[in-house]
Amino acid sequence: MAKSQVELEQEYSANTALYKTTKEKAEKDEKQRLEARKLAQRGIGLALQLRRTYEDMSKDNPTFKEKAQWCQNQVSRWEEELSKLGSSMSGIPSTTFDDIAGLEDVKITIKNYLFALKNPEVAKRYNISTNVGMLMYGPPGTGKTLVAKAIAHELGVRFFVITPSTIFGSYVGESERNIRDIFSELRACEDGAVLLVDECESIFAKRTGDSNRAAIGVANQLLQEMNGANDGGGEKRIILGATNCPENIDEAYLRYKRFSLQFLIGMPNAEARKKVIDIGLKKLPYDEMVRDEMIRVLDESYTCADISGIIEQCAYKAMEEYRANYEMTNGKAQPVNIGVKHFREVMSTFSKSVTPEMVERYLKFRDERRNGGS
Ligand SMILES: Nc1ncnc2c1ncn2[C@@H]1O[C@H](COP(=O)(O)OP(=O)(O)OP(=O)(O)O)[C@@H](O)[C@H]1O
Ligand SMILES: [Mg+2]
Repeated sequence: MAKSQVELEQEYSANTALYKTTKEKAEKDEKQRLEARKLAQRGIGLALQLRRTYEDMSKDNPTFKEKAQWCQNQVSRWEEELSKLGSSMSGIPSTTFDDIAGLEDVKITIKNYLFALKNPEVAKRYNISTNVGMLMYGPPGTGKTLVAKAIAHELGVRFFVITPSTIFGSYVGESERNIRDIFSELRACEDGAVLLVDECESIFAKRTGDSNRAAIGVANQLLQEMNGANDGGGEKRIILGATNCPENIDEAYLRYKRFSLQFLIGMPNAEARKKVIDIGLKKLPYDEMVRDEMIRVLDESYTCADISGIIEQCAYKAMEEYRANYEMTNGKAQPVNIGVKHFREVMSTFSKSVTPEMVERYLKFRDERRNGGS
C-alpha cells in the first residue's frame, strides 16, 4: 500500500537528520561516507515519492503545487550532495533515441529488449531473457555513451559511468571497495539504474602469463555483482560495457552470458551524417550553402563526434569574425553567419579521429564473431 503524506514526510525528515549526522563523520570514515551516499540516494527516492503525492493532492488544493516544486528542488540538492561524496551517479539523462543519428539496427534491438524488460509478462510469453548484458564496441565518437544514456532516459532511471581510472585504486583492496560501493548505490536506486562500464577492455583484459592481477580480481567481482544486479525483483538494472578495443577483451568474457548482446557502434552512413549536421546547425546562424558543402565533404571517414566538433569550431570562427567587426564598428556590426569560408578554414587543420584501418578492424571483429570464429 502507498505510504500516506504524513508517513512520507516523517520518513523524509528522519532520513535528512540521519544524513546530516552521518555526513559529519564521513570525512574521516570511509564506511560513513558510503552510508551517507546511501542516505542521499534514499533522500532522492523519498523526495520523488513525496512530489508525486503532493502533485496528486494539488488537484484538489493548488497550494500543494509549491510543495511539489520544493521536492523537485530537494532532488537537485541531494544530487549535488552525492557528487560531493564522490558518487559516479548522475541524474536521469535527457538524451533520447531520436537524438542518436543512424545505428537503426542497434536501436531496434535495444528497443525490443527494453519493451520486454518493461513488460515482464510479454518477456515470459515469448520466452525472452531480459537478464543479459550488453557490450558496445566501435571507433571513438560514434555514440556508445549516447546509447547508454538513451537507455536510461527511456527507462526513466539514473545513469552511472565507471572507467578503469575510477575503479582501480592504489592501495590493496581499494578497487574491490570501489566496486562494492558502486553496486550498493545501484541497488539503492529503487526504480533501477543504468551502469556504463567505459573502457571496459582494461577490466576484461585477455589473461596472459603476466596478467594484471588487480584487473582479474576486479573483473570477477564485477561479473559476480552483475549476476546479482537484478535479484531484487522487478527493478530495471542494466549494465553495459563500452570499448574501442574489443580484441583486447578475453574471449571467456565475450562468451559469458552477461554480454550476450554485442553491438558494433560503427561509422555513420550518409543519412546519419546529415542528421548530425542538422542537429549541430539547428540552433546556429548559418548560410544554406555551408550546409550543402558539409553534406558533400563530410564523407564516411568522419565520425559523428568529428562532425559535431567541426560545427562547433565553425561557430567559433564565425563568432571570432563577428568580434573583430564588432570592435571595429563600436558594436554596430551585423551578426556573422557560419559560412563556407569558416568551414574550409576549419577543415584545413582538422584531423579525423578514425583511420580506414581502424574501421576495418572493427568490421573484422564483428564478422569473425558472426561466423562463430574467435
Ligand atoms: N550516433 C550519433 N548521433 C548523434 N550524435 C553523435 C552520435 N555519436 C556521437 N555523436 C556526437 O559525438 C559526441 C560523443 O559521442 P559519444 O560520447 O556517445 O561517443 P562514444 O562512442 O561513447 O566515444 P568514446 O568511444 O570515445 O567514448 C556526442 O555528444 C554527440 O555530440
Ligand atoms: Mg563514450
